[in-house]
Parts: sequence; C-alpha cells; structure tokens
Amino acid sequence: MSPHHLRTRTPADCETVVGWVPDVEALHLFTGPRMTWPLTSGQLSTMEGSGLSAWMLVADDTDAALGHFDLTLDGQSARIGRVLIDPARRGHGLAHVLIGLAMEKTRELGAMELRLNVMVGNEPAIRTYARAGFIEMEQSDRPDVHVMTRSM
Ligand SMILES: CC(C)(COP(=O)(O)OP(=O)(O)OC[C@H]1O[C@@H](n2cnc3c(N)ncnc32)[C@H](O)[C@@H]1OP(=O)(O)O)[C@@H](O)C(=O)NCCC(=O)NCCS
Repeated sequence: MSPHHLRTRTPADCETVVGWVPDVEALHLFTGPRMTWPLTSGQLSTMEGSGLSAWMLVADDTDAALGHFDLTLDGQSARIGRVLIDPARRGHGLAHVLIGLAMEKTRELGAMELRLNVMVGNEPAIRTYARAGFIEMEQSDRPDVHVMTRSM
C-alpha cells in the first residue's frame, strides 16, 4: 500500500499551505496570476465551490501534510491546479506520488480527462507531468504557459 494518502483540505491546511509560499515568485509558480501577494488562507478558501475540491497529500504514518492540489470538474473533464509540495520535502519523488493519487481521485470523480497549465521553464513540474503521461496537446493563448492533458 502507498505510504501516502489524500484527504480533503481543511482551513488549518490553508494556513500550512500559505507557509509553503515564501515570496511572490513562489506564488506565481503556485497559482499563476490568479492570486495576489501576500497569499492568505482566505484567497485559497474563496476558490472553493463550482466544481472545485481541494486536497492534501498526507503521510500515512505521521499524518503530516506534504503537498496540495485542487481539482475542478467540468463535465467529463477535470483540471488540476495549485500543485505544491512542502519546500522542505522537495526532490524526493513526492510530486510523482501526488500526481498518481490525483489521477486516482480524478477517476473516482468520474472524469475521463485531466488537464493542467504549467509555466514554461518549470522543469520539476513539467517532468512530473510528462512522466505521468501528460502531453502538450494544444497551443496556449499565453506564451508563458504550457497546456498539458491526459486521458484517464
Ligand atoms: C514542482 C514540484 C511540485 C515538484 O515536487 P518534488 O516533490 O520536488 O518533485 P519530485 O521530487 O517528485 O521530482 C519530480 C521531477 O522533477 C525533477 N526535479 C526535482 N527538482 C528539480 C529541480 N530543482 N530542477 C530540475 N528538476 C527537478 C526530478 O528529478 C523529477 O524528475 P525525474 O523523475 O524525471 O527525475 C515542487 O517543486 C513545487 O511544489 N514547486 C513549486 C510550485 C509549483 O511549481 N507547482 C507546479 C504548478 S504547475
């Protein structure tokens, strides 16, 4: 069994996630132009609703929160956003674990396709998605963003 699982994000988790975003550059990688510096837990929680669910990657043994993402369902398509690993835990393969569990969740929610946006040059993120089978399907209307997709 995987030593990690997902749970629904709580208000306390929003505070934890804010602590993982130390500056405006980190905020830009995390959310693109969607949120403004300084990030607050209020900005994160006001995104809830309209098909969006937010998730934490958690260690089975310690129950420590290690990562975050959200999923927005739109019919049979879903979008993953706000992918973030605790900066203290990066470089140990957790993004691969997170995307694997996020794909399982997407299937459970009934979507047939998972899409995402990633900033051009964000190599750790692009490698993670490419390894998980995502491909760049279409030209983005923003030159600084790749649009990637994978069927479920
Ligand atoms: C992107 C992010 C989620 C990756 O998390 P992570 O747990 O450190 O990643 P992993 O250890 O699972 O490594 C994923 C891949 O990136 C590579 N990688 C990790 N750190 C890297 C670095 N600093 N430079 C280049 N590649 C790197 C790994 O080698 C691995 O690729 P491989 O399997 O082909 O070798 C994390 O860096 C993060 O939270 N970044 C800030 C927010 C962000 O950019 N989110 C993505 C929004 S689309």
